[in-house]
Amino acid sequence: MSDQSPPAYAGPQRVFSGMQPTNGLHLGNYLGALTKFVALQQRFDDCIYCIVDLHAMTADHDPKTLAERSREVAAAYLAAGVDPKRSIVFVQSAVRAHAELAWIFNCVARMGWLERMTQFKDKAGKHSERMSVGLFDYPVLQAADILAYKATHVPVGEDQKQHLELARDIAQKFNNDFDAPGFFPLPESLIEGPGARIMSLRDGAKKMSKSDPSDMSRINLTDDSDAIMNKIKKATTDPQPLPETKAGLDGRPEVENLVGIYAAVTDKSVEAALQEWGGKGFGAFKPALAEALIAKLSPIAAELRRLLADRAALDAILREGAARADALAEPIMRDVRRIVGFWGA
Ligand code: TRP
Repeated sequence: MSDQSPPAYAGPQRVFSGMQPTNGLHLGNYLGALTKFVALQQRFDDCIYCIVDLHAMTADHDPKTLAERSREVAAAYLAAGVDPKRSIVFVQSAVRAHAELAWIFNCVARMGWLERMTQFKDKAGKHSERMSVGLFDYPVLQAADILAYKATHVPVGEDQKQHLELARDIAQKFNNDFDAPGFFPLPESLIEGPGARIMSLRDGAKKMSKSDPSDMSRINLTDDSDAIMNKIKKATTDPQPLPETKAGLDGRPEVENLVGIYAAVTDKSVEAALQEWGGKGFGAFKPALAEALIAKLSPIAAELRRLLADRAALDAILREGAARADALAEPIMRDVRRIVGFWGA
């Protein structure tokens, strides 16, 4: 009896993630992504954090501001605590492997797989025929981002789960079609921890988002103390006091969100936060929450400003990051070119 299952991937454990260089990073990006990026540096030797400007071209694309937006997101990674000596921080378009591997994966992925992607359907709505091919192809480029480095673990939000499944399907089909068992790993999403989903301050059913028309719905990483205090005081709640147990948060999404934020920024469990605040009213809780947020975010905002003020230093970090990323991807791409049979490979 022979074992039919393909060999398990035997390479190193490696983290890859990315964020689009769109303006207006907010608390949801910080707690949902950046704090995870920072924490993973302790658990993995190789963490690769990308600013995905090729992906940003699929939405409103302004060539005049794109590079500066990329610097802003890079500065946010660093200000949050990503260490550019330990981790690789770079801009996607500076490493050629992403676009090249995306093309090869275009010829592996099937139309039907992409037609099932809910994010495209949501973004395109009824007008898919007017959307760019790039928007449709977005998840294939995302698979290329990850697999150009043979990354095994990908910290992302809940909304990216389907894209990660697609990346696994592409990796598996490549390995099968080209008779390269175990060549690409099947990357796993890491969706974990408190703050995985930070909701709008106005509506507990909606995610905190830069595209929400109301600025009161979100805490921006660049908000000053007065703005933070004001937004938290005006955040939607209900007239009941805070509950004493987690079960008491059921059906109170706005309260659950504020308690979750408090727990995340004070490094406490939700249970501990409720022990502290259960039975008390929002008149007392909201100022304490705002103070905790200010204490957490103001050093980050200051560091962000410092990094952005020295563009040459920031660009040097990004150039070094791109060189290190390229050095990891290029040997993998050489194998890929040989496997698919390119001339000269
Ligand atoms: N699509 C991701 C998002 O919107 C961003 C992204 C692009 C990404 N490439 C990636 C995330 C690769 C993880 C890995 O959040």
